[in-house]
Amino acid sequence: MSSIPPEFHRVVEIARQKLLRLVTEYPDLMPSFTENGKWRLQQPGWTNWCEGFLGGALWLIYLLTEEARFRQHAEHYSRLIEERKTDRTVHDLGFLFLPTWGRWYRLDGNSYAREVLIEAGRTLAGRYQAAGRYLCSFQGVHSLYIDIMMNVPLVFEAAQLSGEERLLRIAREHCHTTRRYLVRGDFSTAHEGIFDPESGRFICYQTQQGWRSDSTWVRGHCWALYGFTLAFRYTREAAFLSTAQGLADYYLLHTPEHGIPPNDWDEPNPKYPYESSAAAIAASGLLSLADCTTDMLRAKVYREAAQRILSTLCSDEFLAIDPQWEGILRHAIYHFPAEVGVDESTIWGDYFFLEAIGKISQVLPPEC
Ligand code: GLY
Repeated sequence: MSSIPPEFHRVVEIARQKLLRLVTEYPDLMPSFTENGKWRLQQPGWTNWCEGFLGGALWLIYLLTEEARFRQHAEHYSRLIEERKTDRTVHDLGFLFLPTWGRWYRLDGNSYAREVLIEAGRTLAGRYQAAGRYLCSFQGVHSLYIDIMMNVPLVFEAAQLSGEERLLRIAREHCHTTRRYLVRGDFSTAHEGIFDPESGRFICYQTQQGWRSDSTWVRGHCWALYGFTLAFRYTREAAFLSTAQGLADYYLLHTPEHGIPPNDWDEPNPKYPYESSAAAIAASGLLSLADCTTDMLRAKVYREAAQRILSTLCSDEFLAIDPQWEGILRHAIYHFPAEVGVDESTIWGDYFFLEAIGKISQVLPPEC
């Protein structure tokens, strides 16, 4: 832990203990969220999108602690999801493969990991709708989700690794369509766009996890903030960078000084004030955006905002210091309208929290 700033030592140690307990007591199970602080295991979540985050967290704790046993666990949990590389039923292959096989490939250029990433990227690209020019969500060919911005980097990665122009074109088109329809003029975002798949005509907005169809569901907004940053990293298209910056500015403008947003910025008097997993995604995305931003002043604003968010998340209110609470980060919300995983821990919140700590500690390399 020599390079990790002292303020993060406690988080790393708590994460180390909790992850070790999870893989020892519940081997090969992959949770999504807690119920009263206990991981809900062996029951499906809403959709199968979370199975890469435990493997990803194990890669991160390996990098943060340099303990070899965590690398063994990380490789094992990555292998457990390999068969999903041909899963055509979900739009979430980026969530599955970038934290696991993507991290593995970045670490040592493993040629098998490269093949897995290419195949998973080709599978995700199979969701492309030519008329509407987007990758459709698991809801069907008519549906474009903001979340897919955090999955499309897998298609960019597969394009880069394979040299396939078709994959690059599909990934770019998806980003442009999302930018055009789901990012509004004030840089607020919509969760879902409904299209006529035959003509590609946009019909209306909808939401699944937000307050209402025209409001801004914050986690989706954070997927877009981070996703457009990565789209810029792969393409160097200025439009993607300025979109990521607009989304980041919107986050900062609408979130209290402590940095933790609610589930939806537009909902009046929300029952729960915090959606900490969105904050963790934002912190990690802002650190990558700071790396990609050439304007030094802006970059400083993003870096300082990420630091502020992390300081709040490291406080006793958010860090699960109670060993009986199995998650790492408290006060996350999975699906508020369905009353699933509300004010709990989530595996992706824990993952992006550790990723942000890895970035700010320079254990992970700069993004751009
Ligand atoms: N399914 C992605 C999310 O809930 O953020």
